[in-house]
Amino acid sequence: MKKNVFFSLSVLFALFLYACTHKAGTVVVINPVTPIDTSHHNTDTTQTEVFDTSVCFSRDVLPIFQGSCAKSGAGLSCHSAADREEGYILDSYAGIVAKGLKRGNAAGSKIYTICVSGEMPQSPTPKLDSTQLSYIKRWINKGAPNDTNCFANCDTTKFTYKLAIAPVMKTYCYSCHATAAASSSGGGIVLDTYTGMQTQALNGKLMGSLQHTAGFSAMPKGGAKLSGCKITQVRRWIAAGAQNN
Ligand code: HEC
Repeated sequence: MKKNVFFSLSVLFALFLYACTHKAGTVVVINPVTPIDTSHHNTDTTQTEVFDTSVCFSRDVLPIFQGSCAKSGAGLSCHSAADREEGYILDSYAGIVAKGLKRGNAAGSKIYTICVSGEMPQSPTPKLDSTQLSYIKRWINKGAPNDTNCFANCDTTKFTYKLAIAPVMKTYCYSCHATAAASSSGGGIVLDTYTGMQTQALNGKLMGSLQHTAGFSAMPKGGAKLSGCKITQVRRWIAAGAQNN
């Protein structure tokens, strides 16, 4: 019991210290998230978290909670709908904002501070790294919105199949290359399935057509070339193995 009280006091003290060092004023400098392109460095030191578009819930935050906090079974006591450890269910937006989260105030949100202190996630799940903590912090500080349209602002450092590549294909290519349309309008090439995309990625035709390289049909057919950022995302996805990620 004594130990518990001491522990609680230490946590409070740590929170207090944290609050003191991190809540000075409302202007918070955003740290660029390990950009690959140096041109993406954020040099505007006056930008506030409120305008932080570089963190997006469904792309950056939800996967952290799903991967590290909502694991089920295997003797782990965690926060999935099945386990509900301590009443926390961390596998959906509704569950994540339901408890221990103060919108606009990461330092006052238990769901964040408990990860900073290293108390969560519990072993054997690895502690969150500084990039993951930064995502959660910035997301809570900008009001913890349920943003799902994460690719309105193209980001070359994000190139997973499901969240970056497939949505672009859907917008620009499915009209002719969806399974149902492919034989009549897409030259028989199917791009609305992962395997269809993988085939065109690995045979070189996807990049050839997107970059309008001589010897390939320029795509999207009859439309403008995709932005350099989108083409870079596709190129990086292919370079990383064109995975179904
Ligand atoms: C208006 C219909 C249409 C749209 C939109 C379209 N395509 Fe195509 N695509 C075709 C047709 C038709 C072909 C068959 C070759 C040809 O007629 O040029 C083709 C061929 C291709 C090929 C094979 C190229 C080659 O040189 O063999 C790829 C890869 C491809 N498309 C990718 C895409 C991608 C990626 C997009 C979206 C960015 C896209 N297409 C958008 C109609 C379209």
